[in-house]
Amino acid sequence: MRSEPDPCRPQDWGKFELITRDGAARIGKFHTFHGAITTPMLLPVINPNLRTIEPREMWENYGVEALITNSYVIWKNEKLSVSAKQDGIHKLLDFPGAIVTDSGTFQSYVYGDVEVSPKEIVEFQREIGVDVGTMLDVFGRPDMSREEAENSVNETHRRVSQSLSEAGDSILLNGPIQGGVYEDLRAKSAELMSRVDESGATFAIHPIGGIVPLMENQRYQELFSIILAAKSQIPPNKPIHMFGCGHPMLFPLSVALGVDFFDSAAYALFARDDRILTPEGTVKVQGLKEWPISSKALFGRTPSEVLSLPKDERSKVLARHNLEVTQSELSKCREAIRNGSIWRLAEVRSHASPRLREAFEWVIDQLEQLEETGVGSSLLDIMASTNPIRKGGEPLSDDIEFRPHILHLMALISLRWRLPGSWWDGSSGPAEQVLILDNSPPPWREVSLGTIVNHLLECPRTVVLISTPLGPVPYSFEDVSPFCHVDGSDNIWNDNTDLNNPSEDILYLGLENLDVVISKSSEPLQSSSSEIDKVRAWLDRCSVVDKLSVFCATHPFKLCEITKSMNSRRSNTDRMVNVSFGGVHALSPRLNDGGISLTAEGARMLYSLNDGPPEIFGEKNPDEERDFPGIPRVMIRDDAIPFVGKGRNVMHGYVTGADSHVTPGQPCVVVSEKGELVAHGASTSTSSEMAFFTKGIAVKVRQGFLKE
Ligand code: GUN
Repeated sequence: MRSEPDPCRPQDWGKFELITRDGAARIGKFHTFHGAITTPMLLPVINPNLRTIEPREMWENYGVEALITNSYVIWKNEKLSVSAKQDGIHKLLDFPGAIVTDSGTFQSYVYGDVEVSPKEIVEFQREIGVDVGTMLDVFGRPDMSREEAENSVNETHRRVSQSLSEAGDSILLNGPIQGGVYEDLRAKSAELMSRVDESGATFAIHPIGGIVPLMENQRYQELFSIILAAKSQIPPNKPIHMFGCGHPMLFPLSVALGVDFFDSAAYALFARDDRILTPEGTVKVQGLKEWPISSKALFGRTPSEVLSLPKDERSKVLARHNLEVTQSELSKCREAIRNGSIWRLAEVRSHASPRLREAFEWVIDQLEQLEETGVGSSLLDIMASTNPIRKGGEPLSDDIEFRPHILHLMALISLRWRLPGSWWDGSSGPAEQVLILDNSPPPWREVSLGTIVNHLLECPRTVVLISTPLGPVPYSFEDVSPFCHVDGSDNIWNDNTDLNNPSEDILYLGLENLDVVISKSSEPLQSSSSEIDKVRAWLDRCSVVDKLSVFCATHPFKLCEITKSMNSRRSNTDRMVNVSFGGVHALSPRLNDGGISLTAEGARMLYSLNDGPPEIFGEKNPDEERDFPGIPRVMIRDDAIPFVGKGRNVMHGYVTGADSHVTPGQPCVVVSEKGELVAHGASTSTSSEMAFFTKGIAVKVRQGFLKE
């Protein structure tokens, strides 16, 4: 039997903590009076008058940590209302986990009005002891004119301070975002609803309201535009809930865009209508010879056996199946966040329905355009918050180049990669040509090094690029995943470069005016000589300079200086492992993903090129306008220094400033407010997350600089 939840510490109630992330998709912990809830998750809707699956069964058998019910339905029913007031909502529903309640807004949309006032319904939710209540917002229908939708935003906002003060410290509150189908009104609503009120109170969660009619009519593109527009103004430490969304088909893309909570009665409603949920859509049981999907609930019974059950029993069996499928799709989303494949899952699921595909294509179109406000700014945040490097295979698909981590990586290379300052023969001066290695699969250092070296021996001032299905990339990134791990048939490495017009593909590197030589055959390195060793040492140095400038934002001129005295040790498989500058071990290229692991001395050297504290939150750092603002800095409070300086992680709440180019998963340094170096590590968060979160890890520290 599953034990009762441990209540979270009172100081943590309502806090949201980021545990793992893949871009905007995040596994979080939301802290409540009745335990911590792991997100993304679905709050199953319990109709207090008709409990298709008992809440206790959901807790015991389905791992449900929190559910949602309707406080207005309870308030209207005298028997339920008296019992809820007397014994509390947890006893009424027999559920030990967290209970969220809605307020009657949806009933007001369906029936035209409700008989309760905004103040009364929050008071009632407080009296029955819910964990998270909902204020009485005004449902903004998609068919509303702009003026009507704006009224729903303004009226909802007008009720905020009264609702927050009625909730007090006793319950957490949902602050729904309205605005119909108007992106700017959604952004306005999100901005108004996330303000801190005069008493310092805020909402704990921001549901996106008024979207049920869009989902019923499969207007998915508008749905996702609304999420993105609202998200542009919702503080990153507040979970986002999609009110009334419970179809598993919509989970992966919604999660990839940053949704944390779903709720739905779909599992029970579809069951009553003899329909089952699958991750690709809904299927009618009538007419099925076999199940198109398996579950514990359906196992061992045929569709006709289930159809012959009495109505009530049949609904329960189908509802259990639907709940299982819903839960399992969310597990899949969480696992995809852990292994960095949430966007790929969204891509796969986008093929489930033409309308969903259309919406997905619209999202990737917007990703290409990236306007600076609303939808565009949310997508820019998604890209910037995505670790550009990841280990493991990268399956090829038509949409591969629009995956946010790939867009991010290509954008960083385009922004920060520069031509070498000098060549292997000691000459400096302009590049003479570009060599593109086509028709050559990875690992290029094994398959094609002979061709590269021979070419460089003949023509030292050559820029070497490798041709990949993602476009040509500098040879320095030959071991960076995803370039070397694109997964597809052998042919995918062939003929990626257009022989007639190669300049187009190298425009992003600023190489379009150089002559291009395309090599269609490649050979491994077979001999060695002092000249060849020189070429190889130069290639290694270029790789270190290029990776540090692209991933640590350090200026390549400065890196050329410090790498003049570079030495490296090679592994048994002939890969560069330990890199020293002036005899001091500074970094190790990571063999599994091609990223860089700095040593303490390496971090110190990079910081010395750009030392001083970053700006405090809210102030603009003029350096950030530059392409190379230096290794990102995270500034912490003095009282955290004794811990972080000894190697403990930097916790949210102790960060007082950070450079805006801090990138999750990539190196950063931790400094005091006076600019003293305290530690180095890898960030888990963006700078705006550091400004808002108050719980969880901000930087995973590799080493502290305080002497023991
Ligand atoms: N349930 C579905 N949509 C809504 C909404 O817009 N507001 C509230 N409070 N509940 C909902």
